[in-house]
Amino acid sequence: MSSDLIDLGSTALAGLLEEYRAGRIFDASLERAAMQRHAAALTQRWNSRFPGFPDHYFRFTSLRGLHHRGKRDAYLRDIIVQQMSRDVGQERTIVNPACVFGRHARDLARRLREHRLIAIDIDPGWNRLYSILRPGRTPGNYRFVQGDIFDLRLDVQPVAVVFFGACGALSDAAMDLAIRSEAPRLMGRTCCHENIAGNTLVTRRRGAVNRFFRFKNRVLRWMRARPRFGGFYFSSQYAEDRYPRSDAAKRLTTSQELIAAGRDSTDSDVCRAIIDLDRFLYLCEAGFDVWYQGELFVAERRG
Ligand SMILES: C[S@@+](CC[C@H](N)C(=O)[O-])C[C@H]1O[C@@H](n2cnc3c(N)ncnc32)[C@H](O)[C@@H]1O
Repeated sequence: MSSDLIDLGSTALAGLLEEYRAGRIFDASLERAAMQRHAAALTQRWNSRFPGFPDHYFRFTSLRGLHHRGKRDAYLRDIIVQQMSRDVGQERTIVNPACVFGRHARDLARRLREHRLIAIDIDPGWNRLYSILRPGRTPGNYRFVQGDIFDLRLDVQPVAVVFFGACGALSDAAMDLAIRSEAPRLMGRTCCHENIAGNTLVTRRRGAVNRFFRFKNRVLRWMRARPRFGGFYFSSQYAEDRYPRSDAAKRLTTSQELIAAGRDSTDSDVCRAIIDLDRFLYLCEAGFDVWYQGELFVAERRG
């Protein structure tokens, strides 16, 4: 099974790298054609297991795509509830790193009463703000913990690690947390692919999305220059030499090319998929069966 999955992921990655090297990116029709040509088997695999992917909207790298990412989060939460409702184990702790307001974790806590939800963020302000603005909306089986995902020691063994838009290396750290803590499942949405490997440079192009991401990264550079934001978004554990993450991708590309794809990823679904397929292969190599579509991952530990 795993070698078939690794072949499936490697073939898709090789195809998308070819499109990238040929410059067949950024243009919506070229991007859609490239994804259909090279990622169709992965999409079919996802759709046969998790029907209802909200894909009739638009490119993820459009303003509307950004605006509607909440629809993918709601769909992902439904999948998590479906998967975890079947849980029979004693230990029933789900961990949600980079939880921001803790909105998603609170919703899961309401719908999975038998489970404990631990929401983690390096900045406790967002969760506190949510509790103030939405009093009485925090279920008893929800707990917020201030913590740095790059330096996290859990006193529980989670049954799942979940995340909803963990920027750049935060997604990789969440995946490593699932691997390290032997969690049977990992389910999440990646985002801000330009922030892998400590990168905050964005290829300058016209358009509101590109302007937004250039502004966001100016803010991240400002934060990174201040010691009080140490640990926010970036870690030397996820520097250039840690990418590609998987052995399979190391046979197809280099860290320079992956980071270049990261810089172009604010305007290219193909570039985001290139970075995510390396992660797909990394999880397969770590012993998971993986489903992937549109920045969403569902991974189940084999056996
Ligand atoms: C802003 S959110 C990302 C939202 C996302 N862009 C989306 O598409 O929904 C990222 C969260 O990660 C948190 N964060 C940053 N560095 C972290 C770290 N080292 N450990 C845990 N949380 C971290 C931030 O405080 C923030 O709440």
